[in-house]
Amino acid sequence: KGVTDTSPIIISLLFPTQVMERNVDPEGTLLTFLGKNWTLLSKSWLLRLTGTKYACGRGGCGACTVMVSKHDPVSRKIRHFSVTACLMPICSLYGAAVTTVEGVGSIKTRLHPVQERIAKSHGTQCGFCTPGMVMSMYTLLRNNPQPSEEQLMEGLGGNLCRCTGYRPILESGRTFCMESNSCQQKGTGKCCLDWGENDSSPLGKKSEVSPFRMAENPEKRTLTFYGERVTWISPGTLKDLLELKVKHPKAPLVLGNTSLGPAMKSQDFHPVLLSPARISELSMVTKTSDGLTIGAGCSLAQMQDILAERIAELPEEKTQTYRALLKHLRSLAGQQIRNMASLGGHVISRHCCSDLNPVLAVSNATLNLISAEGTRQIPLNEHFLAGLASADLKAEEILESVHIPHSQKWEFVSAFRQAQCQQNALPHVNAGMRVLLKEGTDSIEDLSIAYGGVGAATISAHRSCQLLLGRRWNELMLDEACSLLLDEVSLPVISFLFKFYLEVLQELKKLVKMFSVPDSRHHSEVSDQFLSALENFPVTIPQGVQTYQNVDPHQPLQDPVGCPIMHLSALKHATGEAMFCDDIPMVDKELFMALVTSSRAHAKITSIDVSKALELPEVVDVITAEDIPGTNGAEGDKLLAVDEVNCVGQIICAVVAETDVQAKRATEKIEITYEDLEPVIFTVKDAIKHNSFLFDQILEEVHVGGQEHFYMETQRVLVIPKTEDKELDIYVSTQDPAHVQKTVSSTLNIPINRITCHVKRVGGGFGGKVGKPAVFGAIAAVGHPIRLVLDREEDMLITGGRHPLFGKYKVGFMNNGRIKALDIECYINGGYDSLRTFLILKLENAYKIRNLRFQGRACMTNLPSNTAFRGFGFPQGALVTESCITAVAAKCGLPPEKIREKNTYKTVDKTIYKQAFNPETLIRCWNECLDKSSFYSRRMQVEEFNKKNYWKKKGIAIIPVKFSVGFAATSYHQAAALVHIYTDGSVLVTHGGNELGQGIHTKMLQVASRELKIPMSCMHISETSTATVPNTVATAASIGADVNGRAVQNACQILLKRLEPIIKKHPEGTWEDWIEAAFEQRISLSATGYFRGYKAFMDWEKGVGDPFPYYVYGAACSEVEIGCLTGAHKKIKTDIIMDACCSLNPAIDIGQIEGSFIQGTGLYTTEELKYSPEGVLYSRSPDEYKIPTITDVPEEFNVSLLPSSQTPLTIYSSKGSTQTYHCTSGMFLGSFVFFAIADAVATVRRERDIAEDFMVQSPATPEWVRMACADQFTEMVGNCLFS
Ligand SMILES: Cc1cc2nc3c(=O)[nH]c(=O)nc-3n(C[C@H](O)[C@H](O)[C@H](O)COP(=O)(O)OP(=O)(O)OC[C@H]3O[C@@H](n4cnc5c(N)ncnc54)[C@H](O)[C@@H]3O)c2cc1C
Ligand code: FES
Ligand code: FES
Repeated sequence: KGVTDTSPIIISLLFPTQVMERNVDPEGTLLTFLGKNWTLLSKSWLLRLTGTKYACGRGGCGACTVMVSKHDPVSRKIRHFSVTACLMPICSLYGAAVTTVEGVGSIKTRLHPVQERIAKSHGTQCGFCTPGMVMSMYTLLRNNPQPSEEQLMEGLGGNLCRCTGYRPILESGRTFCMESNSCQQKGTGKCCLDWGENDSSPLGKKSEVSPFRMAENPEKRTLTFYGERVTWISPGTLKDLLELKVKHPKAPLVLGNTSLGPAMKSQDFHPVLLSPARISELSMVTKTSDGLTIGAGCSLAQMQDILAERIAELPEEKTQTYRALLKHLRSLAGQQIRNMASLGGHVISRHCCSDLNPVLAVSNATLNLISAEGTRQIPLNEHFLAGLASADLKAEEILESVHIPHSQKWEFVSAFRQAQCQQNALPHVNAGMRVLLKEGTDSIEDLSIAYGGVGAATISAHRSCQLLLGRRWNELMLDEACSLLLDEVSLPVISFLFKFYLEVLQELKKLVKMFSVPDSRHHSEVSDQFLSALENFPVTIPQGVQTYQNVDPHQPLQDPVGCPIMHLSALKHATGEAMFCDDIPMVDKELFMALVTSSRAHAKITSIDVSKALELPEVVDVITAEDIPGTNGAEGDKLLAVDEVNCVGQIICAVVAETDVQAKRATEKIEITYEDLEPVIFTVKDAIKHNSFLFDQILEEVHVGGQEHFYMETQRVLVIPKTEDKELDIYVSTQDPAHVQKTVSSTLNIPINRITCHVKRVGGGFGGKVGKPAVFGAIAAVGHPIRLVLDREEDMLITGGRHPLFGKYKVGFMNNGRIKALDIECYINGGYDSLRTFLILKLENAYKIRNLRFQGRACMTNLPSNTAFRGFGFPQGALVTESCITAVAAKCGLPPEKIREKNTYKTVDKTIYKQAFNPETLIRCWNECLDKSSFYSRRMQVEEFNKKNYWKKKGIAIIPVKFSVGFAATSYHQAAALVHIYTDGSVLVTHGGNELGQGIHTKMLQVASRELKIPMSCMHISETSTATVPNTVATAASIGADVNGRAVQNACQILLKRLEPIIKKHPEGTWEDWIEAAFEQRISLSATGYFRGYKAFMDWEKGVGDPFPYYVYGAACSEVEIGCLTGAHKKIKTDIIMDACCSLNPAIDIGQIEGSFIQGTGLYTTEELKYSPEGVLYSRSPDEYKIPTITDVPEEFNVSLLPSSQTPLTIYSSKGSTQTYHCTSGMFLGSFVFFAIADAVATVRRERDIAEDFMVQSPATPEWVRMACADQFTEMVGNCLFS
């Protein structure tokens, strides 16, 4: 087991350190290897490199990015490239060097400029994505110290961040770019962000990768690595590989492992894996007179370079296919996947939505196969793509290379794709199209069309193409082609064909001019108005300005309040030294836990058989509800299901084993039998049906989809029991440690005082870590050290998210747009359990409507119970209100902004629930936004653009926001802090808030620094712990830093009061002198601060109350452009004005606004939860669930904090002293993109004379937008949703 018959794996990790490992498991990845303890070759300490993070395990998020350096046998150079460690088989790294974030720089020694600049640009919040970002940027710079902005966007395209909104990350990367003018000191080789802190290493100085094993003449012998279940064989020659393929005909070839790896995780198992990585024949590229032959082992990134080179060398007419392939390669996955994935793996895995196969198929590419018996060629055609045995590889054959022929004169090739996002998103549908016209004419000599994403394999429209031969390239042909295609392929994407038709017409026009073709007057032409159909949205690096008020010039230099201080952990985030829950080293006798969940939506559990799981080696126990000594959760919300399950993903039991791998394997051996129960309810509409609700007639319906939190750090907990008195230490990623503590206490039936919860930092929460961590903590508290780390799929399946909403409204209004009465009913999909939302109180947004009725109902369904999420219902509910405004505007024939302006609160007034407030700041935000965005002139420009372009439309929307802060419960408005001053003068601050990335600790030290009048550098926050500050409330609902800030202030003021007599006596003394004196005089240097906050009150019977301390105001304007034929959109410009009063830390507040705005755009445009008819969540990974990527930032993105605004209610008059004020309202700002899209769609429908008011549905996915922009093609499909 685990012993090689040849050499050990040797990997250079922290240069110049080398790691030697003889016991690698061929099933292991680089990520698992890095996280464990390994002995170093040259030193005798243990290594645990935790900077490389797990967030999805499927190559889709980039959190685990590292740089691999390998000797390239063809170019004879060392190639440096980024990869995702979670998909990189450890054995494939034989002879490679790996650089992890720890090898780039450290706060203990010196920082790399990439690390320093990302931190100082405020490019980190929770910091979980940061090491991956650093590694992507580092690798880019390693290959190109002054990249272009386009290369920067490409390099970061595979990295997701859920917190920042990407703008500051790009900003830091931009300082390295050649086009950059963002740094004043450019040209000196230094950047103003390189302050030389921690001896930042010079960029130019390349750290050397040890050349061991990357020898120019690699060994030719076969290497074999044996694991417990799998053997990895890496032959050194092609001959050996072919012989091995005869011996192991079923063994797959592992190249990039980007297709095989994810498949092996879920279902496929292969006892033997063949790695052809060392075989140079598979990397060969041959240029011939008729085409290009690319080795099957070339990576997709190498293929990009090869194609680009060939395009530059050859005349345009010969490179049509290469251009089409290159176009798709630019948007295919992220850079890391393109670096790993091979052409051979791509072709052979025949993904139904492969981007390259449709193009290769239409361009008559051939596959060069080789086996021990010889070589042969087969066409890459529909039969091969459908996997027909007669057209496929034989078991002992491998693909050696792919031959792609040149295109010829009068031949045109194009590629099309439609995906949720521009980059790093699998296409929903794509196509390759090729036409050869008879020389000098427009009649079709040959035509090929292939579609991907619409069936189990790439589909060819062979019959339609044959029937069109000989036709002229004109509208008649187009009409016929559309009907034929619909008949043959029956798919709703004939728009691609129209685009191709126009593209060819344009090319024809050029050719006709060039060769003065005699009958040119007969060719169809594209009118200028239609040209917009041809343009794709370019990927551009965003620009923008962030504005905030400077601190008073008289403020003491030492006082950091109001200054844009960097996040306290930013540098540690960037070096990977910031410790998250799962980075805590293993403790003695630690075991791992894995969860078993229900596969049925509503069923009786008839039996649970754990015997087979217990028979597996290393499995220790299976925990069921019967093992719980205390309370098993609440009625209707059990920790572990008993007798009945109410959704797919409900936790039934948990396996405990010595390794995480074995615990996971054992879960598959547990046999559970069910008896299905009725009813099974998934949607709000189903729920309404089952409860037989009746409605009055309504004007409109609005659907808002749910949202997954997609925090980068999945839920995790480490429970360590102590030896005495049933004490427990729980390290947990939570927003509410006191809730974890309480739940564990009731589950184990022990007093709360025996349990201590520790939260160092949380890798993103967004509300998703308020309730659920308590469940995981309680299940894992089994009296043994237990680590429970959810993988991404489990996390998404189990934890629930934002409530989907179905709203109906009736509205009464005057012709001038004044709304007289509004009646809204909202139905929220609560899942199977309780509901936490304050939707009803937030529905009115900023509008004064005299007659209002809001009703809300929570629907019980057989889905996982939904939970808190930024905004607590506001982002969904306010969408109903704003949709109503848009509909009124359409009815009145007025622009929506006029309706908004007319109905916004204008003077001191009372809300619907009679809470008094002054809307002066709201109006200031609105006016400032109108002014800063030049709204009215842009509205005119948009209209001008729309007149000129038929297939592209722009839309613009401006919306005011009034967001109520806090919980409508008094007990939540309190906080405590504990501040110690030690005898050396250093200060330890503890408070009840949790660091989720929102910079609460940074702000708390700013407060303490002002109060104690000493620099922040003298202070420290170690963690949030229930032992230091008890009975805390969740860090959520906009009160975290506000109430905790007051508590810290209180503690500091108590301490300063005690020190006052000493200071008065020795005013010339130093802080250290005063502390020493205080100690001598027996003055206590420790104080508890407490803040008794707002008395929230709501009488739900009367609908009257004072539930919120105050409101946050803002306004934003967004402009977008949509492609009517694809439904894709581009965010052109967004201007946000927020009222932060006197911001405690404007850099952090602006970061929160930007991040939540981008998260909001995800909610309203791309993030779609998809379920099977049986209630199984399909969208369980970044492949299927698309959060915004780096290309989703508006081209111009301006954020301003409203100047000179004050509120007496908060600490130092700051609003948004915690993330939530801005982010909950910021979340809703994302809807402005939605309404800008709706505005563009309305223009399309007006122009085409279709009803302008259409059912509002969020997210406005490309499919929805495409169908809403109804035209002759959607009509043909006969599937128009908006008849
Ligand atoms: C996060 C992510 C995003 C993606 N996005 C996209 C996208 O947007 N568009 C898109 O089209 N694709 C996308 N993909 C799919 C990706 O293109 C394929 O997974 C990849 O090209 C497969 O190549 P590989 O080298 O990793 O294959 P591997 O996983 O190593 O192998 C795949 C299969 O090919 C076989 N094989 C490999 N080489 C040979 C050979 N020479 N001869 C015979 N058999 C061989 C293997 O036996 C195996 O069965 C994405 C993948 C990931 C993980
Ligand atoms: S964890 Fe590897 S890409 Fe997401
Ligand atoms: S900072 Fe990027 S995910 Fe949190």
